Amino acid sequence: MMQSEVCVGRLDTLLDRLADDFRAEAERATDRRGFFAVALPGGSVAVHGFSALAALPLHWDRVHFFWVDERAVPPSDPESNYGVAHTAWLEPARVPPQSIHRMSADSPDLASAAVAYGQELTRVLGHPARLDFVLLGVGPDGHVASLFPGHSALSDDRRMVVPVVDAPKPNVRRLTLTLPVLAGAERVVFMALGEPKAAAIHEAIEHRDSPLPMALVLRRAARSLVLVDEGAASRMGKHRC
Ligand code: 6PG
Repeated sequence: MMQSEVCVGRLDTLLDRLADDFRAEAERATDRRGFFAVALPGGSVAVHGFSALAALPLHWDRVHFFWVDERAVPPSDPESNYGVAHTAWLEPARVPPQSIHRMSADSPDLASAAVAYGQELTRVLGHPARLDFVLLGVGPDGHVASLFPGHSALSDDRRMVVPVVDAPKPNVRRLTLTLPVLAGAERVVFMALGEPKAAAIHEAIEHRDSPLPMALVLRRAARSLVLVDEGAASRMGKHRC
């Protein structure tokens, strides 16, 4: 049965809730399979959330880090999702390099890089590859990872990772996990920060047949949590943490 919870609050409340959830899910996964496999976003969630998560007292050598998407930039570029995570989380938490699975979206051959990332997921997680914790930001248009509304990547149910060469926001070239991989995770946590997200959040949560990427993941995920700040919740009904 699907279990979804929506929590509206100030940023500090949301970050506490995110950290508690991450810790509980890490313990659950480690008890079950001996490690915890997570996939990270970029954007405001990375900027605001990662240092709080890095401070958790976890066994970081038992956590595998993947990404939900990546832009076609080298790891040292300020736009790199890997780069933000490295500075705010992986380096301070001293995560061992063999647990870090960077998406090589800076490869000139994005199609091969997508296949290779799918193989890496299967190598580490087995077949079918199931992530334990997917963390997603939400765009003002309701996109998650690099799955944009109406884009053909959104309906790819066959591949695990796909290239996007025409994203409607910079950087236009990206790699992204697909809907089945995102929604198939043991736990999916969305975090939406800021008033520009209000219309998308309202639609994804209140309209059960919405075609927005966030709504599609939310409907397919078995256990999800939606963390929304007061700006992003300004068009929603009543929900509290
Ligand atoms: C990316 C992200 C992307 C992000 C949303 C929301 O690399 O662009 O993974 O999916 O999470 O665009 O970004 P903001 O939280 O910055 O609005």
